Amino acid sequence: MAYSEEIRRRRTFAIVSHPDAGKTTLTEKLLLFGGAIHLAGAVKSNKIRKTATSDWMDIEKQRGISVATSVMAFDYAGHKINILDTPGHQDFAEDTFRTLTAVDSVIIVIDIAKGVEAQTRKLMEVCRMRKTPVIVFVNKLDREGKDPFDLLDEIEEELSIKVRPLSWPIDMGRRFRGVYNIYEEKLDLYTPSKQYVTESIEIKDISSPELEEHIDARLAGRLRADLELIEGVYPRLDAGTYLRGDVAPVFFGSALNNFGVRELLDCFLSIAPPPRPVVAVERTVDPEEESFSGFVFKIHANMDPNHRSCIAFVKVCSGRFERNAAYRHVRLDRLMRFSSPTAFMAQKKETLDEAFAGDIVGLPDTGNFKIGDTLTSGEELHFQGLPSFSPEMFKYIENADPMKAKQLAKGIEQLMDEGVAQLFTNRFNGRKIIGTVGQLQFEVIQYRLLHEYGARCKWEPLSLYKACWIESDNAAALDNFMKRKTQYMALDREGRDVYLADSAYVLTMAQQDFPGIRFHFSSEF
Ligand code: G4P
Repeated sequence: MAYSEEIRRRRTFAIVSHPDAGKTTLTEKLLLFGGAIHLAGAVKSNKIRKTATSDWMDIEKQRGISVATSVMAFDYAGHKINILDTPGHQDFAEDTFRTLTAVDSVIIVIDIAKGVEAQTRKLMEVCRMRKTPVIVFVNKLDREGKDPFDLLDEIEEELSIKVRPLSWPIDMGRRFRGVYNIYEEKLDLYTPSKQYVTESIEIKDISSPELEEHIDARLAGRLRADLELIEGVYPRLDAGTYLRGDVAPVFFGSALNNFGVRELLDCFLSIAPPPRPVVAVERTVDPEEESFSGFVFKIHANMDPNHRSCIAFVKVCSGRFERNAAYRHVRLDRLMRFSSPTAFMAQKKETLDEAFAGDIVGLPDTGNFKIGDTLTSGEELHFQGLPSFSPEMFKYIENADPMKAKQLAKGIEQLMDEGVAQLFTNRFNGRKIIGTVGQLQFEVIQYRLLHEYGARCKWEPLSLYKACWIESDNAAALDNFMKRKTQYMALDREGRDVYLADSAYVLTMAQQDFPGIRFHFSSEF
C-alpha cells in the first residue's frame, strides 16, 4: 500500500465519558465489530474501583489491567483504527487530558438519564482548546431519561458546542422502538435482548406512509414532528464545521444492547479525520512528511517494583517509525535505537517493525523520557504539549527519613516527569508543594516513593483553592503583586510564576485589586 494511503486510512481517537456512562461497553462493542475480540466481556474495565480502605496495592493491580488496554488497534472496513483508552477514575483525569493530545478526534458518551456530568465538561474543555472534532453518543436509550431536545440544549449550553443530531430516538426506556438514522435515511428498529439493529428499513421520505407499517401512528406522527423541528433548528451537518470542532454530530443508542453502535462507527469512519497536522514550536508538521517525528504523551510505570522500567507511549506525528532505526531524542540531543518497540493490538502487546503517522508505539524506557519529549529522524522539533491545569488539592511534601533525602528528591523528580502530579516550590520558604486532582494521587506518590525509590515522605495539610499562572505587561505591577503576596508565590517546574490563592474570595479580591495582572488557570496562555 502506498505510504500516504497507509496514513490516510488511520483513525486515532479516544472515547471519553464521565464514569459509568458506558465508555467501556461502547469500546467493547467497537472491538467486536473489528473482530479484535470475539466475546462480550473480554475488555476489562479500566475503571479503578475505589475500595473502602483505598488500598493502593489493589488499585495498582486494577491499574495493571489498563496497560494492556491502553491502546486498542484493529482493522475495520479498510481502516486502521486506534482507540486510546483513558482511565475511568477521575483522580487520574490528568492522564486523560494528556491522552487527548495524541488523538485526532473524540467520541463523548453521555448517559441519557444523567446528561452532561462534571468530568465530561472538563474533557470537552480540553477538546475545545485543541479544536478536536467531537461526536456525541447518547447512551442507555433502553432506560428512561431526559427529553432528547432538552438534552441537546444541555449539551450545547454545558459543553459550549453546537450540535447536529444524526439519529433520533423513537421513545425510550421500556417503550424504546429504535432510532431514525438521519445520516443513512433509515429506520433502525430495536428489539430488547437482541444485540443488533433488528430491522433497518430505508425510508428517505419521512412523510411516506411506509413509516406507519413499522411503528404505530402516534410514534410516527411524533417522529415526523421531531424531525421537522430538527431540520428547522439544527443546520445540516457540514464536514468543515465538525472538523474544526464547532459542531458535534449526535447519535442515540444503547451500547449494552449493541444498538446504534455500527451506525456510529460507520459514520465516524466516513467523517472523522485521518492523522492531522501537528503544531511544533518550530513549524507545523504534516503527517505525510517522509521523515519520522513523534512525541511522548504518556508514561506508564512498571508494576514490578524491582524493575523501575516504564513504557513511554509515543504518538507518531509524521512519517514512518522503524524498529532499530536511530532517532534523535531532542531534549537529550542523543541518538537512540529501539529494539523492542511494541504495538497494541486489541488486548495483546506485540513487537512491531514499523508504524505510521497516527499510530501509537510503546517504547520500553528506564528513565530517558518525560511527557512531551520529542523523537525525530534528526530535526530539532518541539511539539507543544498540553498545558497544566490548576490542581484541585495541595499538600506540602516533607522528607520523613533524613538519610534518604537524595532518593526522595530523585523520586519526586521522576514521578513529576511521568506526570503523576504537579510540583510547585514556594518562593518564600522553599517548601515543596504537590498539587493533584484527587486524594488517590497522594497515595500513589507515597507508595511509589517508598517502593521504587526507598524514600519516605509525609504530607502536611495545605488549604489552597487554586494555582494561577500570572503575567503582566507591566513589570512594576507584577513586582508589586509578588511583594504583596510574597507568602503565596511559587514557581512551577518550568520556573513560571504561580500565585497560590487560598480561597475563591481572596482570588476575586486579588483580581479586583490588581487589574494589571492576568490570572490564568492553565499554564499555557
Ligand atoms: P464507563 O466505562 O463509562 O465507566 O461505563 P461502563 O461501560 O462500565 O458502563 C457502566 C454501567 O452501565 C455498566 O453496568 C454497564 O453495563 C451499563 N451500561 C452501559 N451501556 C448501557 C446501555 O446501553 N443500557 C443500560 N441499561 N446499561 C448500560 P454495571 O452494572 O455498572 O456494570 P456491569 O456489572 O454490567 O459490568
